[in-house]
Amino acid sequence: MEYHIQFSADKNALVLLDQRKLPCVEEYYTCRNVEEIIYSLKEMVVRGAPAIGVTAAWGCYLAACQLMDKHGQAAAPDAWAKDLEKLLLDLADARPTAVNLAWAVNLMRDLYKKANPQTLKGLVDFWKAEAEKIHADDIAINKRMGAYGAEVIDRGDTILTHCNAGALATAGYGTALGVIRAAHEQGKNIKVIADETRPFLQGARLTAYELHVDGIPVTVACDNACALLMQKGLVQKVVTGADRIAANGDSANKIGTYGVALIAREFNIPFYIAAPLSTIDVETKTGGDIPIEERTPLEVTHVGATQITPDGVPVYNFAFDVTPAELIAGIITEKGILRPPYNESIAKAFMK
Ligand code: MRU
Repeated sequence: MEYHIQFSADKNALVLLDQRKLPCVEEYYTCRNVEEIIYSLKEMVVRGAPAIGVTAAWGCYLAACQLMDKHGQAAAPDAWAKDLEKLLLDLADARPTAVNLAWAVNLMRDLYKKANPQTLKGLVDFWKAEAEKIHADDIAINKRMGAYGAEVIDRGDTILTHCNAGALATAGYGTALGVIRAAHEQGKNIKVIADETRPFLQGARLTAYELHVDGIPVTVACDNACALLMQKGLVQKVVTGADRIAANGDSANKIGTYGVALIAREFNIPFYIAAPLSTIDVETKTGGDIPIEERTPLEVTHVGATQITPDGVPVYNFAFDVTPAELIAGIITEKGILRPPYNESIAKAFMK
C-alpha cells in the first residue's frame, strides 16, 4: 500500500488517501498549496509520524511553488525568503508531538540554505528532488527496520499493537506493522491484535484495514481488553510505533500506549517500539519535555455524527502519552535494535 501519499505531476499537487474516511470510503484529498497541506495534517487526512514528515517535505515544495506563482521564476531570495520562512513556520506548527514534522521542515530548510539557490525556480527544482528522496527513503528505511525487527518475533507469536504504525502512517510498509509484515513474509505464522485506539480509532479502522487487505490475520480488541488478553496468554509481544523518542529512550506514542506497556510488564511480555531515527529527538532530553497534543473534545464526545456524552461535560483529549524507557525492551530502528541504556545506544546510533 504505497498509493496513499502520491505526488501528481499533472496536478502539481500532493494527493492523499483521506484517512478520516477509511475503511468504508476510499476518497482522495488533493493539496495544491501549503495551506491545504496544513489542513490535511491538522485534520488528520494524513497522520502517523513518518507520513507527517513526508507530507511536510512536499508542503515545503508546494510553498516554494506558491511563491514562484506570486514573484516569478527569476525572483531573487530577498523578494521571497521572509515569506517562505513564515510558511515553513506555519507548516512546522501543524501538529506538536510528532517530531518528524519539524525534522522534515528543518531538513528541507538546512538543505536549501546549503544549496543556496538564487532564484525561485532553482529552489522549486531543488526541493522537488529532495521531497522525492525523503518520500522514497522512508519506504526503504521501513523495510530495513522490518528486517531487524522480525528477529525478535518468534514463530506463532501473537503481536499486540496500538494505533496505526503501518503503511498508512508512513510512505509505505510501516514501522511497527513493517516488523509484522517482515515476520509474516518470513512465514513465521504470526497473528496480530489491533487495539481499537479510541477516540480516532486508528487501530479498528486503519490497522485492521491494511493488515486485512494484505492477508495478515488480525483481530480487533477494545483498548480496555488489553489486561484480560495478556492474562489469558493471548499476547506474546507488543510492538508499537512512536511519535517522538527522547534522548533517554522515553517514547511518546498514541494515548493508551503507556497503559499497554505497564500491563505488558506485569505479564513479562516484551514491549518494543519501532521507529526511524527521524523520530528520535536528541534535543529532547526526557519524556517530560515532549509536548503532548490536545485535540478537539468533539473526537471524544461524538462517534461520527452521534453525540455520546451529555451536553456540557468536559473531556480530556490528550492525543499521546509517554512510555518511560524502562518499560521498553528495545527500540527497533533502521540501524538495528537499540537496547538499554538508551542514552548510550541512541547516541551511538547517531554516530554511525
Ligand atoms: O495521531 P496520529 O494518528 O498521527 O498518531 C499516530 C501514532 O501515534 C503512531 O503510532 C505513530 O505516529 C507511529 S506511526 C509509524
